[in-house]
Amino acid sequence: MQVKKEELTIDQIIHQALDSLSQASTVDQIKILQAHYLGRKGLITQFLRSISTMPQDMRPAAGKKVNEAKQVFEEKLKERTAYLEYLASKNDAGIDVTLPGRFSPYGTLHPITQITNEICRIFRSIGFQIVEGPEIETDYYNFEALNIPKDHPARDMQDTFYVSDSILLRTHTSPMQIRTMKKISPPLRIIAPGKVYRCDSDITHTPMFHQVEGLMVDKYISFADLKGILTLFVHEMFDPSTSLRFRPSFFPFTEPSAEVDIRCVMCKGAGCRVCSQTGWLEVLGAGMVHPNVFRNVNYNTDTYSGFAFGMGVERITMLKYGIDDIRKFFENDLRFLGQF
Ligand code: FA5
Repeated sequence: MQVKKEELTIDQIIHQALDSLSQASTVDQIKILQAHYLGRKGLITQFLRSISTMPQDMRPAAGKKVNEAKQVFEEKLKERTAYLEYLASKNDAGIDVTLPGRFSPYGTLHPITQITNEICRIFRSIGFQIVEGPEIETDYYNFEALNIPKDHPARDMQDTFYVSDSILLRTHTSPMQIRTMKKISPPLRIIAPGKVYRCDSDITHTPMFHQVEGLMVDKYISFADLKGILTLFVHEMFDPSTSLRFRPSFFPFTEPSAEVDIRCVMCKGAGCRVCSQTGWLEVLGAGMVHPNVFRNVNYNTDTYSGFAFGMGVERITMLKYGIDDIRKFFENDLRFLGQF
């Protein structure tokens, strides 16, 4: 019973010692605690001395216990002293270590990246695969294989940045149609997101912008499939009540061709500067793949047909978020970017 009481006492002493240590806020207070517990008349020292008065058989266990407790206290004492000395040195240097830290704000994905991801998600959900290709392209893939021979007037539709006579910055993602069809046999369903470049700049055009190309080739693919897939896409991307219209157009690599407009979300169709007072904003070009393009990649035009489309990601993002100037995407103003 007596031993139990002594054990309890040393437990209490060490508990009290550690508690006081954690509350000590200066090195001087630590010195006082050191004297109180470990000094010549300190509580732990006295306890150690009292062991010699215990019955012989109890001394080893009691001695071990008190020595362990003493060792723990000495280690904590050293740690706390080092910590308080460190704080004191910072205070001497004029640094207030009690001030809250500065946190770096988390970044978010750029709105164009977010919308590109969303476009990919929608098409992936209906079985399209994603492919990517080079931004520095050859004249062959960007124009010739797409049924746009040299000196064809259609080359003027896209003001091109040339690197050399035969190398250029791709003006659209359509070269990915050729690159894909040269690698894969039909049937296929792909989309190709990426950057494209044109010498063009105003509130709806920038010299670098993003497109997503789409291509589907199989037996019996018709214009009705193209309309169905694009309508599904627009209704998923915006909402099912969004109006879209197909306007006859011309692209050398599709026949027939169309441009697709979405009802302007800025003015709800009333007419504004974003939609040039028309109430509609063109978001993509599309059509049935031209037989000459199929011939260039050795596809059998009697067996296969297909459709292709190329959409402007900035236009879709502007419509989605009601942004009235495309240039805002590229100014890197955090007040603008932080809203997405
Ligand atoms: C083309 O680029 C064709 N390659 C699209 C295509 C693909 C047609 C497959 C048929 C089959 P267009 O030049 O119209 O087409 O551009 C497509 C879309 O890119 C436009 O509808 C528009 O949304 C966007 N766009 C065009 N020029 C710019 C620009 N300078 N800045 C931002 N977006 C642009």
